[in-house]
Amino acid sequence: MSVPQPPEPIPGARLLFSLDPAVSHLNHGSFGAVPIAVQRAQQRLRDEMEANPLRFFTQGLIDRIAHTRRHLAGFLGADPDGSALVGNTTTGVAVVLQSIGLRPGDEVLSTDHGYGAVSLAIQRECRRTGAVSRVLPIPLAATDEQVVQVVRAGLRPGRTRLLVVDQLTSATAKLFPTAAIVGVAREHGIPVLVDAAHAPGMLATTVASIGADFWVGNLHKWAYAPRGTALLAVAPQWRDKIEPLVVSWEQESGFPARIEWQATLDYTSWLAAPAGLFTLRSLGVDRVRAHNAALAAYGQRVVGDALGVPPADLPDPGGPGVSLRLIPLPAGTAATIDAARALQTRIGERLAAEVAVMSWNGRGWLRLTGQVYNTADEYERLAGRLPALLVQR
Ligand SMILES: Cc1ncc(COP(=O)(O)O)c(C=O)c1O
Repeated sequence: MSVPQPPEPIPGARLLFSLDPAVSHLNHGSFGAVPIAVQRAQQRLRDEMEANPLRFFTQGLIDRIAHTRRHLAGFLGADPDGSALVGNTTTGVAVVLQSIGLRPGDEVLSTDHGYGAVSLAIQRECRRTGAVSRVLPIPLAATDEQVVQVVRAGLRPGRTRLLVVDQLTSATAKLFPTAAIVGVAREHGIPVLVDAAHAPGMLATTVASIGADFWVGNLHKWAYAPRGTALLAVAPQWRDKIEPLVVSWEQESGFPARIEWQATLDYTSWLAAPAGLFTLRSLGVDRVRAHNAALAAYGQRVVGDALGVPPADLPDPGGPGVSLRLIPLPAGTAATIDAARALQTRIGERLAAEVAVMSWNGRGWLRLTGQVYNTADEYERLAGRLPALLVQR
């Protein structure tokens, strides 16, 4: 089988970012990268804030936040007034967990593809309330139908108070059939929280089409927003129950203002987020999605080939537009989280390539992303140098 051709580069796209040109940035997934125009938009807002802090915070800021939220929600296909801006997905998850009224004996169900910090949040909330956390194992190669079957069999009506499922998983770059999962849970009246940290900007699926009780996604990864920008969408029946982690002056205003107003924070990342969407739209949303997915698939194949992984053993995330791809590492490599972190650092230092190294269920994986600032030669260079690094101590 021949290696697929890489996509046509997007001319000049690298110059939109302030990324160190000496490094291949092949891990957009972890922390994103903010285009220079968006950094400038945020700086202009900070300049305005510092010119007259009192006026900035007291004259119209709440309306500006609401306006921004409606803009971002509209882009994501979420209900503009049924959504709240939050700082990040982790915060949105914590808001939901502490708002649903978990009680002793209740169960929070999640999968073994879940994000580590989200699992820790579930565990802590369960310890605090006397609920229990149960984790469903789902094979990496499971089809959508198999995933739905596993979830269906795993639900315990009457006990399961919340199902937490990722739209696109971080450790395993797997796209879950979230709308179907929500449908199955709804048959039993079980609410679903979709962790969509990677979805905004990358995936075309609208929030409304998933129909989850709760959905939270970051705009600071694939939608080019400044870090600290996420949207939490909440179904109507939950909006009165949703409580902020920190009570502030908008508490009596109800959802979403009580969630969004978090006292004296720097809200400029939210206000500048539409500039990220402007960059994405200027490049062409569909063009960016297609480019990034094709480039990630290309990178997966060339690096996989270099490591001797047969194409059939390269996980396919199961959907178009997915710009995260996994390559299995040789058995015994990055088998633990600490070993994965150490290898990731070593690849960064020795090969000038920033990648994600994941340890999932005792197995090590390299995770590569594609972005408009990447070019095919960056993956080829990594493919040329990685095998030697993996055999070095
Ligand atoms: C699936 C998933 N959930 C949650 C998060 C947490 O996002 P944040 O650090 O912005 O809260 C991430 C971050 O990469 C993620 O991949």
